Amino acid sequence: MSKKAIGIDIGGTGIKGAIVDTKNGTLLSERIRFATPDGGTPKAIAKTLKELIVQLPGAQGLPVGICFPAVVKSGRTMSAANVSKEWIGFDADTFFEKELQREVHVLNDADAAGIAEVKFGAARDAKGLAILTTLGTGIGTALMFNGKLIPNAELGHLEIDGVDYESKAAFSAKEREELSWEQWAKRLQKYFSRLEALLTPDLFIVGGGVSKEHESFIPLLKLKTPIIPAQNRNSAGILGAAHFAKKHASD
Ligand code: BGC
Repeated sequence: MSKKAIGIDIGGTGIKGAIVDTKNGTLLSERIRFATPDGGTPKAIAKTLKELIVQLPGAQGLPVGICFPAVVKSGRTMSAANVSKEWIGFDADTFFEKELQREVHVLNDADAAGIAEVKFGAARDAKGLAILTTLGTGIGTALMFNGKLIPNAELGHLEIDGVDYESKAAFSAKEREELSWEQWAKRLQKYFSRLEALLTPDLFIVGGGVSKEHESFIPLLKLKTPIIPAQNRNSAGILGAAHFAKKHASD
């Protein structure tokens, strides 16, 4: 049986996609990127996805996994971070299946990154509770217990010091406020300590684009829990989404 699926990662600024070998987690095509259309409405995004998929050689008939910055319950997007509010309460699976004329499975972007790490990366064989955090525009979180995803954890929105702490500790806050690594690490320290106090995890995995600079901030954190960088960085969403689609494909 073919172990191929298309993985697509929709973000507030870019949409990336590739064909994935879902058995070993390798990309079987180039990674193609388009800018997210202004407004990020379902219709506009579907148009971009069609343009992207025709550029993938051999994409015909393959199931599509799409990861998205929102809570996704049974294929329905329940929130919308940095994209149109039209996605709230929207049946995204059915909509994309009609638009793309093939089987589609949508999931949260951090959950896709978590799947990528459990199946093909830093959390392979991890026992107990592993928490992946993506530090980007927002903070995405994925909970994995003995390699199994507990979907839709929204722990980026923990309230600390009276604010939604994503606004303080995401990588976008570092950039916006021009924080040094040390200043940013103080906020990360608060954030990860709180997660640690609430959940007593066995492993933290730090994902998102900034994880390639892990040496600048992970050593500054003092935690009881081991904390390591993700192995799949730019492709994590694509790999996890494709794996999710293949796993739920009807064939
Ligand atoms: C959203 C999450 C998402 C994360 C990363 C947060 O603002 O609430 O659903 O996973 O951003 O994109």
